[in-house]
Amino acid sequence: MPNHPDVMEKLVSLCKRRGFIFQSSEIYGGTGSVWDYGPLGVELKKNIKDRWWHAMVRSRDDIEGLDAAILMHPRVWEASGHVGGFVDPLVDCKNCKKRFRADDPKIKGTPGRPDAQCPACGMKGTLSEARQFNLMFKTFMGPMEDSAAVVYLRPETAQGIYVNFLNVQQSTRQKVPFGIAQIGKAFRNEITPGNFIFRTREFEQMEMQFFVEPDSAMTWFEYWKGERMAWHRSLGLDEARLMFHRHAPDELAHYAKAAFDVQFDFGGSLGFQEIEGVHSRGDFDLSRHQEFSGKKLEYFDQPNNKRFLPYVVETSAGADRTALAILVNAYREEAVPGETEGRTVLGFHPAIAPIKAGIFPLVKKDGMPEMARRIADDLRPLLSVFYDDGGAIGRRYRRQDEVGTPFCITVDGESAAADTVTVRDRDTLRQERVSTTKLSEYLAARIAS
Ligand code: GAP
Repeated sequence: MPNHPDVMEKLVSLCKRRGFIFQSSEIYGGTGSVWDYGPLGVELKKNIKDRWWHAMVRSRDDIEGLDAAILMHPRVWEASGHVGGFVDPLVDCKNCKKRFRADDPKIKGTPGRPDAQCPACGMKGTLSEARQFNLMFKTFMGPMEDSAAVVYLRPETAQGIYVNFLNVQQSTRQKVPFGIAQIGKAFRNEITPGNFIFRTREFEQMEMQFFVEPDSAMTWFEYWKGERMAWHRSLGLDEARLMFHRHAPDELAHYAKAAFDVQFDFGGSLGFQEIEGVHSRGDFDLSRHQEFSGKKLEYFDQPNNKRFLPYVVETSAGADRTALAILVNAYREEAVPGETEGRTVLGFHPAIAPIKAGIFPLVKKDGMPEMARRIADDLRPLLSVFYDDGGAIGRRYRRQDEVGTPFCITVDGESAAADTVTVRDRDTLRQERVSTTKLSEYLAARIAS
């Protein structure tokens, strides 16, 4: 059970101070549960998305990429079940006007009855009966704001894949089993968003739909569970903080025959929570789109001369939630041997760290800044580097530790004559002397390891 400390408050503050994540529209008082990624945050999230794309699309010959539009035909969401079924039960308190999900464990008693107690103001009998609240954002397409012009902001990227199933299959000549992957924004008008970027109203998903023969669906489901857990471990997430959660029948989404969540222990009272879902969706989506569009979506298996609707195994991860798991996992405060001041470290895996190397002249004289700048300019096309000559060297190291930079390169008194620099490892604090001609090779090997 959760045994890690709650670092969320400290992280929110660090993320703002160091330019990872800002509240949206902050100067206007902020927009509820919408966040903007600053210079370091955008790099971190991009590294996560690139790694996902590489693992799921580039390094495989059985998965194709797609970038479908956010706005889709409104019938898509009727077929998918989201118009009718993507609802949360909502209750309001007539006294304090706060809103809750009806199944919020903090509510005592039954909403709508006199015994029900508001978890915010503590009044009894003020909670309304539960009413169904659809989580999709609605807007209008074209100049008329009437019901015929309603369109939705997609609540998941998956539907863009299903409606393009045959386009992708026929244009690429892929054969079942194969998958289609995409990364993109999704929107949900969550009733109880919160916990920083854990549950937001605008977020990014990294989803893959794998189309298989019906008989093989459970074998592929097990395969993808394994692959996805291995991917999260490869990001450096602590094994002990990861686990699977199997959905009980009453937890299953309307489309799912079976589902497992990959959960991460976020610490504190949040504890283990879903970061990715692996779902066995059967032929629910393709058959519904076939029915609602009137267009056949069957796959033609030429060698066996048969047509069938493939079953789908879906892997659905949140890019923001994965970024939060990575930040929580990486955050640590520690004493430094021989120093009075401790340090805060984001111990990111080097491959996803926003800055790979800090580059410093030991002092601002004797040609050291010029040499350090030359090294920074040479490395910049290959990896993200940060030049810093401001303040004591110890402070510069600490500033990079706090944003998770795995290596700090220092040009010192020996550098010019020997054409070498020191490379400090963020985690071990050990320094190695490396020839400047070997520097890029050295860093590439350390980042890949
Ligand atoms: N297509 C299936 C689907 O969307 P989901 O379990 O609703 O499944 C998948 O969402 C993933 O998307 C979650 O595991 C989570 O990482 C992310 N996600 C869902 N809702 C989110 C929200 N409101 N804020 C941030 N991430 C969210």
